[in-house]
Amino acid sequence: MRLTDCHNFHDFRRLAQRRLPGPIFNYIDGAADDEVTYRQNAQSFESCDLVPNVLRGVSDIDMSTTVMGQKLDMPVYCSPTALQRLFHHRGEHAVAAAAAKYGTLFGVSSLGTVSLEEVRKTYDNPQVYQFYFHKDRGLNRAMMERAKEAGVNIMMLTVDSITGGNRERDKRTGFSIPFRLTLGGMIQFAIKPAWGLNYLFHEPFSLPQLDAHIDMGGDALSISRYFTDMLDPAMTWDDVAEMVQLWDGEFCLKGVMSVEDARKAVEIGCTGIVLSNHGGRQLDGSRAAFDQLKEIMDAVGGQIDVLMDGGVQRGTHVLKALSLGAKAVGVGRYYLYPLAAAGQNGVERALELMKVEIERDMRLMGCKSVEELSPDNLRFR
Ligand code: FNR
Repeated sequence: MRLTDCHNFHDFRRLAQRRLPGPIFNYIDGAADDEVTYRQNAQSFESCDLVPNVLRGVSDIDMSTTVMGQKLDMPVYCSPTALQRLFHHRGEHAVAAAAAKYGTLFGVSSLGTVSLEEVRKTYDNPQVYQFYFHKDRGLNRAMMERAKEAGVNIMMLTVDSITGGNRERDKRTGFSIPFRLTLGGMIQFAIKPAWGLNYLFHEPFSLPQLDAHIDMGGDALSISRYFTDMLDPAMTWDDVAEMVQLWDGEFCLKGVMSVEDARKAVEIGCTGIVLSNHGGRQLDGSRAAFDQLKEIMDAVGGQIDVLMDGGVQRGTHVLKALSLGAKAVGVGRYYLYPLAAAGQNGVERALELMKVEIERDMRLMGCKSVEELSPDNLRFR
């Protein structure tokens, strides 16, 4: 199976599975507890149907959108994810370059493996910085200043990870940073030597967003301990209000799900929210972002830019979310499997397929621009 054999999400996933050692594939592919929310994310788009209009003169299609002051050429962006150089040796560079080529937003994670400064200066697309809130307030301020100085366009604070999710696949394989593999996990690495050689002969693994501030070297701090020891479960709306003031720019909360919280985000001056359950990796049994979108739009639509992510695999999924009022839609695994399968070429192919699908689907829907999509185009069963 080659990259040119990949025509959709499932094909990329299969190719990634062939290339990656089992523990790494399962880190990407897995979710929390029984993975109910993970499955529901993808299924949520099937609870409604598109109702097209015809004969509308759709030769020119404009799928651009403006999100928190940033113009995107397509309404799909690459949501920030951790540890990308483990999936492919070029990691964030591959994803940022592909996102820049397609004129869309990309975000470096706090647990990213390339520094936000390097990504910001190398690629000219709009960029977010995904932030976690630490107990050490001085550290939070220092990291925000660093992002401001680097020229990050949007601060994105993830609020659904106040503690780590229960990822049972990772427990079974022993996936952790630093690696503490079970015997089964080690065998999985041994049978994927190509991955191992790439990993060994490229830049050593590091977490540059954190390295400057925290001793992540050796066994000093594992990622699971980062969540339990460094992040602050006492974080409140007052803390975030202070951050919003301090940042003094585009600021969004990733992982808001309730109407009450969406209203609070507006109140404290956020310019965006991302409805998200972290790809089902945190609270299993929580609602899919798409299922929650209408309720949120009814409450705060027009007052704040609403984005969503989770389970997006097709152009029609994007059109459904935009019809309900989302400004743009984030993808995680949709670009991570292609990254693992083929680096930048893989991510570019995935974004190209998505772009072609959206363009075709907009034509079939009778919509020339994303503004023409409305709830009238959708019926819930
Ligand atoms: C994530 N996600 C994530 N989110 C975040 O705010 N910070 C992070 O470091 C990560 N890391 C991460 C790693 C991996 C392997 C995955 C799959 C996801 C969540 C991500 O940004 C996004 O919310 C989901 O991936 C969206 O769901 P789909 O598109 O993967 O179904």
